Amino acid sequence: MEPCRQVPVAFTINGRAVSLEVAADETALHVIRDRLLLKGTKEGCGIGECGACTIVVDGKAVNACLMLAAQLQGRNIMTVEGLIEKHELSVLQKAFLEDHAVQCGFCTPGMLMSSCALLKDKPRPDKGDIVDAISGNLCRCTGYQQVVGAIQDAARRLFGEKA
Ligand code: FES
Ligand code: FES
Repeated sequence: MEPCRQVPVAFTINGRAVSLEVAADETALHVIRDRLLLKGTKEGCGIGECGACTIVVDGKAVNACLMLAAQLQGRNIMTVEGLIEKHELSVLQKAFLEDHAVQCGFCTPGMLMSSCALLKDKPRPDKGDIVDAISGNLCRCTGYQQVVGAIQDAARRLFGEKA
């Protein structure tokens, strides 16, 4: 059998430049979790349904299980590990914890990355914007209200009250 073709890729992840060779059929999720050992990004369904693997690619929330590793070429990637600011949890992470938006925590990295992309794009989102932004992130524990509340809280703490 032919060995799987290897493709060189270079990208930035959480501010760090990375270059490596990836298999043509390898997913971004596999590279992030199993080769770069950034285990915060979770694998749930593996087919684009649960959002547990959400990362931010050039400012947009993306399912890493649906992205080929070769498509990382030249991109700027952020995973949940990149949210830490000066060894401290970010405002968004603190809001999730303090507002009880984390229970088992399996969905949390994906929720955080979808929220992070939303707040970069729209610093003062309304409730509908938030619901839309996390509509691809499934949570079996919280019932979503606390998650929406935490994102509203983070937006207020970061950017002030909605005009
Ligand atoms: S693991 Fe990617 S969407 Fe479920
Ligand atoms: S906190 Fe358990 S799945 Fe969301």
